[in-house]
Amino acid sequence: MGARRFILLGPPGAGKGTQSARLIEALGVPQISTGDLLRAARKAGTELGKQAQAYMDAGQLVPDALVLSLVEERLAREDARTGYILDGFPRNIAQAEALASRGIAVERVVNVVVDSSALLGRLTGRRVCQQCGATYHIQTAPTSREGVCDACGGVVSQRKDDDAAVIANRLEVYHRETSPLIEYYDRRGLLRSVDGLQTADVVFDAVLAALEN
Ligand code: AP5
Repeated sequence: MGARRFILLGPPGAGKGTQSARLIEALGVPQISTGDLLRAARKAGTELGKQAQAYMDAGQLVPDALVLSLVEERLAREDARTGYILDGFPRNIAQAEALASRGIAVERVVNVVVDSSALLGRLTGRRVCQQCGATYHIQTAPTSREGVCDACGGVVSQRKDDDAAVIANRLEVYHRETSPLIEYYDRRGLLRSVDGLQTADVVFDAVLAALEN
């Protein structure tokens, strides 16, 4: 069988990262999250990470050239040969065209649909492990001990861009830059939409079904 490549689309807080974590196991392919790659670059203090910082903190898109160089490097790694789940990439039509122009064909694009009113609560309540990246929510998916990751014992804290004012920018950027990808992939016959307002388990079943149909 050839490489299996998928894209998870959806607004900030739709549950792309939550679903990707489950899909890694179910499909046996890695998740490639440009948000995670950028945060890792910042943490490592690379030049690219430094350049990305102000955009991320303001909830704006990092310039395409920076993101594409990170993605190219990641796709060239050995574990991406059998496929991958792209999470948070592409983020605009130019990035989708860049992917296509490299001859990279994706099998399916799953659009996780959650209306804006639910997103603010999801994002302001999100907490993330600084060590392993596990994601929690103070109300719907809390850690057993406050501030401590159940999976690895690491420190769990709030992402800097999960602040109400920055979230408003991220949602605005999503509607302007990213949502046109829904029609872009639908026209190419690749898009399936799932209702992301259901429980994470139910969404996962729907995503798996969408990947196979
Ligand atoms: P990125 O890290 O990609 O953030 P995002 O797209 O804003 O997505 P999130 O990680 O916020 O949400 P998610 O959909 O993964 O939700 P999650 O599963 O965590 O990007 C960050 C920044 O990096 C961007 O603003 C930009 O600056 C830059 N960037 C990244 N990629 C870029 C690119 N390609 N080009 C340019 N710039 C780029 O869930 C959220 C919360 O909801 C959690 O608490 C979770 O527990 C909860 N939850 C999840 N599912 C459910 C459910 N079914 N029911 C109830 N609660 C749920």
